[in-house]
Amino acid sequence: MKTNFSDVQNVRHEQAKHSVLISCPPKIHETKFLQYLAQHGEVASHFFFDSNGTHAVVEFVDLQSVESLLSVTKIPSDEDVYVVPYKSRYIRVKTTNAGQQFPKCWPQTSLPMNNLIEKLSTAENIEDQAQMLLDELQLTEESIRLRYLVSSLISDIATAYFPEATVHLYGSSVNSFGKMGCDLDLFLNLEDIKGYKSGKSTGAYTAEFWMRRVSSGRTAQQKILSVIGECIDSFGPGCNEVHKILNARCPLVRFSHQPSGLQCDLTADNKIALRCSELLYIYSNLDHRVRALVFAVRCWARAHGITSSIPGQWITNFSLTMMVLFFLQKRNSPIIPTLDQLKSLAGKKEKCIIDGNDCTFVGDLNKIKQTANTETLDILLIEFLEFYGKFDFKTNCIDIRKGLEKNKPEVAALYIQNPFEQTLNVSKNVNQPQLQRFVNLAQESAFILQDQVRESAKIGKPWGLASILLTNGSDRETTTKRKKKILASERIGGLLDSLKDNGNTGKRKVEH
Ligand code: CTP
Ligand code: MG
Repeated sequence: MKTNFSDVQNVRHEQAKHSVLISCPPKIHETKFLQYLAQHGEVASHFFFDSNGTHAVVEFVDLQSVESLLSVTKIPSDEDVYVVPYKSRYIRVKTTNAGQQFPKCWPQTSLPMNNLIEKLSTAENIEDQAQMLLDELQLTEESIRLRYLVSSLISDIATAYFPEATVHLYGSSVNSFGKMGCDLDLFLNLEDIKGYKSGKSTGAYTAEFWMRRVSSGRTAQQKILSVIGECIDSFGPGCNEVHKILNARCPLVRFSHQPSGLQCDLTADNKIALRCSELLYIYSNLDHRVRALVFAVRCWARAHGITSSIPGQWITNFSLTMMVLFFLQKRNSPIIPTLDQLKSLAGKKEKCIIDGNDCTFVGDLNKIKQTANTETLDILLIEFLEFYGKFDFKTNCIDIRKGLEKNKPEVAALYIQNPFEQTLNVSKNVNQPQLQRFVNLAQESAFILQDQVRESAKIGKPWGLASILLTNGSDRETTTKRKKKILASERIGGLLDSLKDNGNTGKRKVEH
């Protein structure tokens, strides 16, 4: 049985509510520390991590234990220090009886690229390399728990004003394509406030709240985010570098959560993006090759500066994911269904319209038929690079709803139709030079991999996925020279053949 997205979300949110974030002394006696906490109730799980000091995430079995711990937690009273007395579940534990040892901290960073390339070169085939890459880069259990906890702490700040609001995670933290260190996308859901749409009438009377009226939903979002941003900035424990980016298409508050080291983007009412995260979660959990290929492609693109951590005219990870999904839909025997096919499997209760956009699709993974396609990742990686190396980006748009190329509805270097807001282009930001870099790199990397199939890789040298992650060095130069040589000899061969053909038929060859 595969676990559905909403079930995962519910379990994670519950875990987070039962958890506290604790700043600890660098050396701590783990057993005594846990005994101290256990006075408040049974500890369900805990781990330590080192980020701007030693921290622990401690999950209690009962919610009351959290309350009990907070009830004995004091407000700092150091002389000459003034505090904003906002109490949260981010606390500090001090001790006069420090341990002799550093606690075992869960590692928060993944292998540097050079070591990763070395490691991948020890694999048997590209399939294994892709799996190794995934194991190295994917979010760990601890990182996922920490992300939900940060979301829960931000939710506590927001609900101080809007008690029924909820904060959700979306994007790569939850869609199963998250890599260690990726940003934390959050959205504040105010729409599910009880009775938002309907009230209760008694006889001829109805009552409604006297609320401030604003000119548009966007203005309301901007006002709310502005205030929440102010709260995060003024008394959000551990939150700093708060920027309100309220004029963006999707207004947001960006801040850094220091103890977790997470870069957070908080938006308001971004339900479609949550739906999109669920869709990606479904695709990634349908077949193991989806995640492996997405990770391989994202890592390859990052290594070559095709994607960047700075916003700009670069292709984004989200766009790359859509490109991989589209490619997998286009296999002779498709590896994943189209969005329309997922929609046709949805039950009546799953009908979902958000802001007039049809976001209906089946949520139960177990209702989706497995593919008969058995292609290995060795094949899929080369074919992905070839597919986009010769894709007609000038004319065509990528559409995972239909799984078909179609004419671009408007001018843009790269057009990837948003699966739900179908008039939007996910990759509107990408310019022609950036797209061309992607195409050139795809062609070159496809060639490197094909060349290895022709030549059989040299022992001890990076090969397969590892070789296309290399950004410079002699291996890559040699391959580029070989590519030129082979292309030249292929051209000469082709020329000779065509001369022979012309000699035989006396006609000019027509190229289709
Ligand atoms: N999104 C979208 N249209 C875009 C950009 C983003 O619908 N043009 C939505 C997607 O659902 C995406 C989410 O916003 O997953 C978060 O965007 P972003 O952080 O850019 O992408 P992630 O998928 O989270 O990938 P990354 O690991 O790079 O953060
Ligand atoms: Mg993100």
